[in-house]
Amino acid sequence: MNILILGSGGREHAFALKISQSNQCKNLYIAPGNGGTHQIATNININPTNFKQVKQLVLDKKIEMVVVGPEDPLVQGIYDFFKTDTQLQHVQVVGPSREGAKLEGSKEFAKQFMQRHSIPTAKYESFTKETIVQGCKFLETMQPPYVLKADGLAAGKGVLIINDLNEAQTELKNMLLNEKFGNASQKVVIEEFLDGIELSCFVLTDGKNYKLLPTAKDYKRIGENDQGLNTGGMGAVSPVPFADANFMEKIETRIVKPTISGLQKDNIEYKGFIFIGLIKVKGEPYVIEYNVRMGDPETEVVLPRIESDLVPIFKTLQTQTLNTVSLAITPQSATTVMMVSGGYPEDYEKGKRISGIENVTGSIVFHAGTTIKEGELQTSGGRVLAVTSFGKDFKEALQKSYENIEKIHFDKMYFRKDIGFDL
Ligand code: AMP
Ligand code: GLY
Repeated sequence: MNILILGSGGREHAFALKISQSNQCKNLYIAPGNGGTHQIATNININPTNFKQVKQLVLDKKIEMVVVGPEDPLVQGIYDFFKTDTQLQHVQVVGPSREGAKLEGSKEFAKQFMQRHSIPTAKYESFTKETIVQGCKFLETMQPPYVLKADGLAAGKGVLIINDLNEAQTELKNMLLNEKFGNASQKVVIEEFLDGIELSCFVLTDGKNYKLLPTAKDYKRIGENDQGLNTGGMGAVSPVPFADANFMEKIETRIVKPTISGLQKDNIEYKGFIFIGLIKVKGEPYVIEYNVRMGDPETEVVLPRIESDLVPIFKTLQTQTLNTVSLAITPQSATTVMMVSGGYPEDYEKGKRISGIENVTGSIVFHAGTTIKEGELQTSGGRVLAVTSFGKDFKEALQKSYENIEKIHFDKMYFRKDIGFDL
């Protein structure tokens, strides 16, 4: 079959590599893709949120399956767009319906969902412009640090964690009255701060059955020792050593099962990935957030560990027969280290020539922000390359990634040398 992947990052390159290895995939397209996907699929320069253009592409290329990488098209309802269009109805979209995508698109929706289905998460209240006075009072009843979350999508920047009460109240006003995060902060969720270690749990579901994918831990801060600004993610490790069988059992019974049965009870159509951001507090798992897609860079360690062909597994989502297939996962550890442009996540330069990838051995180099210009591979984003390796444990895998990074060069490149430091 002909398959289309939407997106342009390292996550999408990892999907492209995996899907390109399937003997059920005839032609693979990716929109818009990057300098790495270009080698294994056909890049098509259209924006995934331009549904009209996506439709034209799907019809022109006789595409039968669309795998959606990022959240934006999902939150904007690409699943429903396909389902309700007579020319597209037969095309499978791997991802949730618009209603399901609210689990990521609205923090308040997600909190209400968890409350309704008794899924452990931080206590919260939400506020709008109209209830700002109550919001400021509510903060006075909380212990610091104060956690303020813009309700809507804010490209991973919508969460503020503040120690000082006055500052928290000022920021609440900035979010609600001055639209600090645009429309996304018309509503703000204030929640209890949870102190613990985070991990990501990935689930594939057909809305009825589910499969647990490998766990991963990502490193969000730009600086070593988790210091400095938040980024999209600077590296990842899978599996997560502290997620032992006992802890996974708690996650499955208290969080994954109630999430899937909650979707069913609420009549929410969901045939795709759920990425559950978790925190372990005194040995117990709590949900920090839901995402309705795979993580980036987590995908660059999770997918390489899956040995099974993903295409026939995706097909079972349509018929809600995910329970009839099995998922083989390598016991080896995988790690990825992100090479980023100097200055990221603030201002950085693009258009730097990338050299040395051809000298890499024993690692996979996933492209994130790269492009081919006049025949030359160049940087085109903040996160540029993700270097993934396997090992008997994460330390062995990391060593390979770091050895191979030494062979790659672009002007002002930066990477964290301490991925896995806290494990
Ligand atoms: P989110 O966008 O919801 O993932 O939040 C971004 C980051 O903020 C998370 O990865 C956590 O590190 C942190 N965070 C969010 N909510 C809480 C909370 N209730 N307690 C502690 N940290 C939090
Ligand atoms: N790495 C975190 C995310 O994809 O949201």
